[in-house]
Amino acid sequence: MQHSASDLELNYSDPRYHLTTRKEITEQSFSGLFRVDREGWPLVPEFIMWPSRLQRLHASILDASDNLIDGLQNTLDQPERSLQEVLGLTGMRKLGLDLIEHVEIHHRTEDKHVLPNFLQRFPNLRRAISLIENDHQFLDNAMDVARIVFGALAQPAVDKSHVASALASASSLDRLLKRHTHDEENILIPATMSGE
Ligand SMILES: [Fe+2]
Ligand SMILES: [Fe+2]
Repeated sequence: MQHSASDLELNYSDPRYHLTTRKEITEQSFSGLFRVDREGWPLVPEFIMWPSRLQRLHASILDASDNLIDGLQNTLDQPERSLQEVLGLTGMRKLGLDLIEHVEIHHRTEDKHVLPNFLQRFPNLRRAISLIENDHQFLDNAMDVARIVFGALAQPAVDKSHVASALASASSLDRLLKRHTHDEENILIPATMSGE
């Protein structure tokens, strides 16, 4: 069968696919995707191998992201005069930077090992895997900005506007990470448990 270029290439700026605008990716999103049955996954014997590890890793990233948001929200509730002390005691800057580093390391492993292996095993998932790669690139750029915003929490003249900016960055990053990890699981986990 002949494919046109548009069948093979993913237009990531299409709002149906872009990380900031899309709804959940399911088997309806791309041809070649396997059926998504999240409740049924733990019942499949293969789940205890790689899929459950991937989900635990994603859960640890999202937990760290939740903790960062809670901590920044609590910091904003403190009096301005004790801001520097609270930031020092709670380590908010380090929490933010550690989260970014953790996600970056995770992405590098996926880009270098996981996704090429999947593509070789499931060539029909090419467009879906391209969506994951585009997400990684977009998240990397978003985290470059967030790194500067979190880093500013260590400056001597820190005030609540810096904390508010860090909270806005952390909240926006959290939304992106939730969408990305959920959809990545929907693309990769059913495939790896399909027996193909
Ligand atoms: Fe990923
Ligand atoms: Fe991942």
